[in-house]
Amino acid sequence: MQGNWRVMKIIKSKRRLPSLPYFLSLIEWKAPSFSIYGPRVRRAVCVNDLAKIAKKRTPKVVFDYVDGSATYELAYKKSREAFDRVEIDTRVLQNVSNLDTSERILGKKVDLPILFAPTGYTRLMHHVGEPAVAQVSTEKNLIYGLSNMGTFSPEELVAAVPEGRKWFQLYVMQNREASMKIINQAKSAGFEALIMTVDTPVAGLRYRDMKNGLTIPPKIRLKTIFAIARKPIWWLNLFSTGKLEFASYRNWNRPLQELAGLIFDPAIALDDIKWLRSVWKGPIIIKGIQSVADAKDVSKLGIQGIIVSNHGGRQLDRGPIPLEILPEIVEAVGNKVEVYLDGGVMSGIDAAAAIALGAKAVFIGRAYLYGAMAYGQRGVEKVIEIMRSEFINTMALTGARTVADLRKKGAVIRK
Ligand code: GLV
Repeated sequence: MQGNWRVMKIIKSKRRLPSLPYFLSLIEWKAPSFSIYGPRVRRAVCVNDLAKIAKKRTPKVVFDYVDGSATYELAYKKSREAFDRVEIDTRVLQNVSNLDTSERILGKKVDLPILFAPTGYTRLMHHVGEPAVAQVSTEKNLIYGLSNMGTFSPEELVAAVPEGRKWFQLYVMQNREASMKIINQAKSAGFEALIMTVDTPVAGLRYRDMKNGLTIPPKIRLKTIFAIARKPIWWLNLFSTGKLEFASYRNWNRPLQELAGLIFDPAIALDDIKWLRSVWKGPIIIKGIQSVADAKDVSKLGIQGIIVSNHGGRQLDRGPIPLEILPEIVEAVGNKVEVYLDGGVMSGIDAAAAIALGAKAVFIGRAYLYGAMAYGQRGVEKVIEIMRSEFINTMALTGARTVADLRKKGAVIRK
């Protein structure tokens, strides 16, 4: 061995004088930015990076509302972990030079099967609120779900973002007349579909929110003054833009748990879907399905889609995991209704996993809210760009040229 060192011909670099023009050509010249967060958001490579920025930018009570879930937060943790255990069937040598990420949702094309779930109180996360998200959705040719607990009403949202596909999420309330009023608002604003949420007969117990005393608008207590000192820009934005309130429940200045108690109806039952079917002529999507039996029951009622969902783990903390029950539900009702999934989708890889397990599309909630908290509309746009490139990368590496290919190939969830 020793001898080999001596006999081997050693290859050397040819040396020259250090070249200044070459050195300068490697430097990326950029105008200095005066925003602290803009460059960090641009450099983010995954949604987790944006979540870290979001945590720095927003008061604890706001971040916790988005990041947290019900009681001990096990359902959310388990929903996330299920994605990590997915293995997608993979083929190589499939000529993946031209990929098509589009999908048809209720008969119309979207450019990516990653859609925006309804999320409450979006102006709390960023002062622009729902229109910032709806605008990104429109520009990327996706679908935006406006929450019944939104800080913009259907009309206000359409006035701010006239183009693009919009679905309205509804809680059927104890007071049917109040529900009807909201349904009519969605109808006259031209919303395409209603999403009826059915996993909220009662409010989830959100321990973080309870401890933080979350109210809309935030109550000013001594604790709040300290919070303002820590996140002055967020507070300045809040106080220098419109009043923060639920557009559908203006002037209900109550703690969230109490408000939810008035909006959610514990008597909600299958007949309520029949009622909704009779008063809304457009498509109906049922959100919050967690069993094959319920999927079968609701699919008989003339609805067009279901969202297999545990509400991001924000309701029941001991229910089934959406991704794990998805294949059986698709098998049972996938030929009758479109089956979507939400809960813990944090990357385009997660989206690809859900689609390989049979979902027509996925909805994201927390993921885009992290983007909104990090940098408003640009942050939301960044989330979609990250997820799109992860989705494309996963399609190419698994050998899927289309979304239908990806779904056909299948996947397993390892125990
Ligand atoms: C609203 O839907 C929430 O989960 O807070």
